[in-house]
Amino acid sequence: MKTTPTIPALLSVRNVHKDFGPTPALRGIDLDVHPGEVLAVMGPSGSGKSTLLHCMAGVMPPDHGTVTYTRPNAPEGSVEISILGEAARSALRLSEFGFVFQYGQLLPELTAVDNVTIPLLLAGTKRREALRKASGLLERLGLAGQGEKLPGELSGGQAQRVAIARAMVAEPAVLFADEPTGSLDSLAAENVLTLLLELVREVGTTVVMITHDPRTAAYADREVIVRDGMIGAGHRVAA
Ligand SMILES: Nc1ncnc2c1ncn2[C@@H]1O[C@H](COP(=O)(O)OP(=O)(O)OP(=O)(O)O)[C@@H](O)[C@H]1O
Ligand SMILES: [Mg+2]
Repeated sequence: MKTTPTIPALLSVRNVHKDFGPTPALRGIDLDVHPGEVLAVMGPSGSGKSTLLHCMAGVMPPDHGTVTYTRPNAPEGSVEISILGEAARSALRLSEFGFVFQYGQLLPELTAVDNVTIPLLLAGTKRREALRKASGLLERLGLAGQGEKLPGELSGGQAQRVAIARAMVAEPAVLFADEPTGSLDSLAAENVLTLLLELVREVGTTVVMITHDPRTAAYADREVIVRDGMIGAGHRVAA
């Protein structure tokens, strides 16, 4: 018999629906994400993966259903993300979440190190301290000496490591990644994923990672499949 975990889910999604005009993108999603786990979200193109991630991360509100975030070590401090307004969602994202996308989405006119400082500066960290932390993390990700380059001067794998540094520099509770290695060849992808997972395990960040690639999903502790806006069968739970 399946045992119920005593620690509350970090993110709890219940009966979430989202339509885009006549298109139903999510049709009753139930999903729990547990503290510290790396969850892979797989499924066909157009099945609703990115929409689900956006609803979970407070990027957009669902039409129906709830997304509840229970801060680690503060179970009494649950936040129902799905009913927050734009400003509160934005504040929550900044203080608790990190994001990585398929194409890093670095600011092209800022150097690599300046890109990484952004979340810290937005959170009120002094510039000198932010630069120190950002440089340290870039070094940690194998980018020593690359910090003064503009994103356009970096390789795809380097740019994706900068994006990871930016997502992780403020030590978020949850990292949301949408095809983080989708634009990379398999060797660069493996390198980026290995560094990412080392870092998240060290910080204790929980990860929700969308991927098409079974080799990428194999790095996760657990995977769920989204099909036609619903969680389908086919879970794999690591031993
Ligand atoms: N902003 C939007 N406006 C209108 N329709 C949208 C919008 N975003 C998503 N959709 C639709 O919602 C459905 C789910 O899209 P979503 O982007 O979540 O899929 P996905 O699983 O992430 O696909 P992919 O693997 O191709 O990224 C699709 O039918 C898509 O066309
Ligand atoms: Mg998508």
